[in-house]
Amino acid sequence: MDKLLITGGNRLHGEIDVSGAKNAALPILCASLLTADAITLHNVPDLKDIGTTLKLLGQMGVKSEKSGRDSVTLSAAHVDRLEAPYELVKTMRASILVLGPLLARFGEARVSLPGGCAIGQRPVDQHIKGLEAMGADIRIEHGFVVAKASRLKGASIVTDMVTVTGTENLMMAAVLAEGRTTLENAAREPEVVDLAELLNKMGARIQGHGTDRIVIDGVERLHGATHQVIADRIEAGTFLCAVGATGGEITLRRAAPHTMGATLDKLQEAGMHIECGDDWIRGAMNARPRATGFRTAEYPGFPTDMQAQLMALNTIASGTAVIAENIFENRYMHVQELVRMGAMIDIDSHTAVVSGVEQLLGATVMATDLRASASLVIAGLAAQGDTTIERIYHLDRGYERMEEKLRAVGANIQRLTGKDA
Ligand code: UD1
Repeated sequence: MDKLLITGGNRLHGEIDVSGAKNAALPILCASLLTADAITLHNVPDLKDIGTTLKLLGQMGVKSEKSGRDSVTLSAAHVDRLEAPYELVKTMRASILVLGPLLARFGEARVSLPGGCAIGQRPVDQHIKGLEAMGADIRIEHGFVVAKASRLKGASIVTDMVTVTGTENLMMAAVLAEGRTTLENAAREPEVVDLAELLNKMGARIQGHGTDRIVIDGVERLHGATHQVIADRIEAGTFLCAVGATGGEITLRRAAPHTMGATLDKLQEAGMHIECGDDWIRGAMNARPRATGFRTAEYPGFPTDMQAQLMALNTIASGTAVIAENIFENRYMHVQELVRMGAMIDIDSHTAVVSGVEQLLGATVMATDLRASASLVIAGLAAQGDTTIERIYHLDRGYERMEEKLRAVGANIQRLTGKDA
């Protein structure tokens, strides 16, 4: 299994290109199931989760052809298997995103239930509740969600909580339903907006995306389209936290600063000097960071997917930060590893109190989930001495060539593969 070896202490300087957003690309790839015509996507990141989604769609009969560095064309003209098997769903929960499109276009779907994962229970009851409201007959059989519907019917749906993939699944189901669907308490995340924009290019009639009330007027059929996936705000935020921890200055190109308000705000509070253009961000840090408490919340609040990385920055800040994780119940798996590097963190239920130390010390640590892994990279870059991060397959699910991008701005980081590891 691959590992990362980081020798900490280098300041970061230079430019990094931000990749396309994983969490926008995943639902967008699944949206190709909604039409027999070709969908061409640009700025698709080269990640393990994208490969898993292409494999899942491929097993259903969707043809995909990559071109250039980051483009892919999908054709769902001949779909012959309406199923997402356990083997793929267990490695990537977002596989549930095929449920809405399959049901809407083919009237049938069989999708394995995701089960538990490292950061909490993460049920899909809201996806099911919404589809049932649209007239689907849904049963849980042998660990699968088995759904049937002749044609879905528009409905008024209020989800119990704000759910990102839930909103996306229901939006994709509603675009081909008969009549109007209203999604209340909808997720406002930029990735939901990006999906809605693609769907509208395909002929859907969606309004209100980006607000908590999305109105969808169903159409008979959708057609092909071309779309550029939005920049990854979490990848961009991760690199900014890295330069916050090491000091230095980096410029992120192909970024989407307008989607990163809460993160940029917190980094400024921590003492980072930030400048932005339409599609670039420059972050400079020339002093020890200041402790910066925050609470995770749905967009436009501070993203749970940035919690671990900003916590890593806080471990070496001056002062004490109080952090509250409000989205997932078990998302502090990185804490025990940061503590092994000398961080001082106390956890009480959903709250973490981080007392900044002058210096972290390199150690061998283990990645437990995607964003936890990113926080360990940040800690390793700032620590004194060597840090070895094990189980980095988590990192590869969501960060494209992370070590190469960091090396290009001066980090001492290398991947140990096969026998070296
Ligand atoms: C998405 C993101 C993930 C991010 C999360 C929150 C993708 C592929 N993943 O995950 O990176 O951390 O949003 O911003 O886009 N819930 C239920 N029942 C449901 C659905 C959700 O109880 O049917 C709960 C979850 O357990 C969680 C909360 O609602 O506590 C929010 O989850 P949700 O927004 O659905 O997360 P995901 O869409 O899985």
